[in-house]
Amino acid sequence: MTMPWSLQAAVLANAPIASGIYRLRLAVPADLATKAKAGQFVMIRTGDRHDPLLRRPFSIHDADRTSWSILYRLAGQGTAWLSRQSPGQNLAVIGPLGRGFPLDTPSPPLLVGGGIGVAPLPMLARRFSERHGAPPEVIIGFRTADEVVAEEAFLRLGCNLTVVTEDGSRGAQGLVTDVLPTAPSEPPFLMLCGPWPMMRAVARIARERGWQGVASLETTMACGIGACLGCAVPANDPHRTYLHVCQHGPVLELQAVQWENR
Ligand SMILES: Cc1cc2nc3c(=O)[nH]c(=O)nc-3n(C[C@H](O)[C@H](O)[C@H](O)COP(=O)(O)OP(=O)(O)OC[C@H]3O[C@@H](n4cnc5c(N)ncnc54)[C@H](O)[C@@H]3O)c2cc1C
Ligand code: FES
Repeated sequence: MTMPWSLQAAVLANAPIASGIYRLRLAVPADLATKAKAGQFVMIRTGDRHDPLLRRPFSIHDADRTSWSILYRLAGQGTAWLSRQSPGQNLAVIGPLGRGFPLDTPSPPLLVGGGIGVAPLPMLARRFSERHGAPPEVIIGFRTADEVVAEEAFLRLGCNLTVVTEDGSRGAQGLVTDVLPTAPSEPPFLMLCGPWPMMRAVARIARERGWQGVASLETTMACGIGACLGCAVPANDPHRTYLHVCQHGPVLELQAVQWENR
C-alpha cells in the first residue's frame, strides 16, 4: 500500500456540478497521483485556523497523472469553507488513505451507489475496465434529478447503467434496491458506496440471496490514520469487536460488518 503523503495541494478547479454538490480538483505530485486506488480517501483541512479543528474525509473521485478530484456535498461548516476556496489557493491534504476496492472479484461486479456515495465509483469502473477489458454494471440512486452526478462518466466507459430517483424525476422512480437483478445468470459481486440505510438494505438482500460483496463505509473521522479510534463500527463477530473504518476500511467485506447495530 502507498504510504500517505501530507502535502499542500493547489486548487486547480472548484465549482458546483449539481444541487449542493461541488467538484474540487487538486494538483498532486506526479509520483503520488496515480498511486491512489479507487475507494481510498483523503483528509482535507477545511478551515483557515483551527475551526473546524479536524480535517474532513473525502473519497478520491478521480486521479490522473498530476491531480486528484473529489466530489463533495455541502454538509456543514467544513464543506461550506471548502466551497469558497479558489484556484491557486493551497489546501492541507493527507492521502491516499485506507483500503480501496478490490479489482479482482470472484464474480461479475455490480457497483451500487447512493447520493454523494457515487463519488469513488467512476474511478473504480474505469480501473476495472482497464484491467478486465469490460466495464462493470452500475446502479446509482438519488433523491431527485438535481442531485444526479457521475452519470456521463459511467456512460463514457460503456457501463450498463441504471439511474433511479426517489421522485422519478430522472430514470426509474424508486430506490436502488428496487432495481437489483432478481434472477442474474451469475450472482453479482456487490461494490457499494452510499448512506448507511441504503447499504444496510442492499446487504440484507445480499445475505438472503447468498451474494458476496464489499462496501465503502462512511463514519465521522477525527484522524483518518488509526490513532483516535473515533471511526469504530461493530464487527459482525461473536466477540463484539470493532472495525476502524479509516484503517480496516473504508472498503470492508459485507459480511464483516454488523449492519443492524447502528
Ligand atoms: C471515508 C469517507 C469518505 C467520504 N467521502 C465523501 C465524499 O466523497 N464526498 C462527500 O461529500 N462526503 C464524503 N464523506 C463525508 C464527509 O466527510 C462529510 O460530509 C464532511 O466531513 C462534513 O463536514 P462538514 O464540516 O461540512 O460538516 P459537519 O459540520 O461536520 O457536519 C454537518 C452535518 O453533516 C453530518 N455529517 C458529518 N460527517 C458525516 C459523514 N461522514 N457522513 C454522514 N453525515 C455526516 C453531521 O452529522 C452533521 O449533521 C466521506 C466520509 C468518509 C468517512
Ligand atoms: S478516524 Fe481516528 S482511528 Fe479512524
